[in-house]
Amino acid sequence: MKNIVTARAHTNIALIKYWGKADLALNIPTTSSLSMTLDQFYTTTSVAFTQEPSDSLILNAEAVDATRVGQFLEMMRGKYGDFPKIAVRSENHVPTAAGLASSASSFAALTVAMFGLLDLPKDEQEMSRLARRGSGSASRSIFGNFAVWNKGVDDQSSFAESFHNEDIGLSMIVAEISAEQKKMSSTKGMQLAQTAPTYAAWVEKSAHQLEEMKKAILHADIEKVGLIAQDNALGMHEQNRLCREPFDYFTAQTQAVIDFAKTCYRQGLLAFVTIDAGPNVKIITDRASERRLLEKFQAEFPDLTFDVARAGGAYEYL
Ligand code: PMV
Repeated sequence: MKNIVTARAHTNIALIKYWGKADLALNIPTTSSLSMTLDQFYTTTSVAFTQEPSDSLILNAEAVDATRVGQFLEMMRGKYGDFPKIAVRSENHVPTAAGLASSASSFAALTVAMFGLLDLPKDEQEMSRLARRGSGSASRSIFGNFAVWNKGVDDQSSFAESFHNEDIGLSMIVAEISAEQKKMSSTKGMQLAQTAPTYAAWVEKSAHQLEEMKKAILHADIEKVGLIAQDNALGMHEQNRLCREPFDYFTAQTQAVIDFAKTCYRQGLLAFVTIDAGPNVKIITDRASERRLLEKFQAEFPDLTFDVARAGGAYEYL
């Protein structure tokens, strides 16, 4: 039996969003979703058996609260049989301080590392199913390039799969906008959004958009990818504003970056946006426009930090 296993998984950004749970405990979503895995941002996680009385987590060289990781490991013990406590050591190469989600890469890396430590068969479907229990979006971070998470109806049928494992030349420019407002967790945000009177219509539209998105990716039609992704994401945030206790992840700067992307598009550049459970904006473009667009954004927003990410790799053992 191995003593220590290290694995890496990359974060992903959804082009068709997961924003609602049909089953809260199991993370079964209300919609299927589709994402691009990013080369730039990833989590590296080592797991080792320990004699200590509880599971522990060291994140970026600092001992931190291990409640969520402990719950995840308990769930694994229930599923695969009991095993000793685990010391988890994780390094996030994701700008979390700026509100870019790292739970996808974190739970994917932890899942993969644990599969190695427990010598479980490297069944990607099963890894995705497991990662989903940690954080829904983590189900998609097992795969490189593009992944589709088919919502399914229960634990067994809800997992992600690789979709078109090729780089179609899509680029994302991540505008790091620091969060001034208090953060709302994705779980809470989804629960509230589901009370919006327009939520069912967004879910229905999303199913249609997913099929259109798949076609656009297969045709490497980045303009179409961007237009659909932007509409899907703005629709998601609209539910937050229309729900029972309205809330908004956007800051004034978020809106300014969105407006500028729209201006660039009107000027003939490929520029579209997607936004997750925070104020950051990911600008969708293609490889040919990437540099020009980056320069335009840097000139317009000199105080913001921008990172460029492209399609990235599947999980790996180190
Ligand atoms: O995986 P969670 O529970 O953090 O939810 C992620 C939700 C979004 O990032 C907003 C959308 C998505 O599909 O990744």
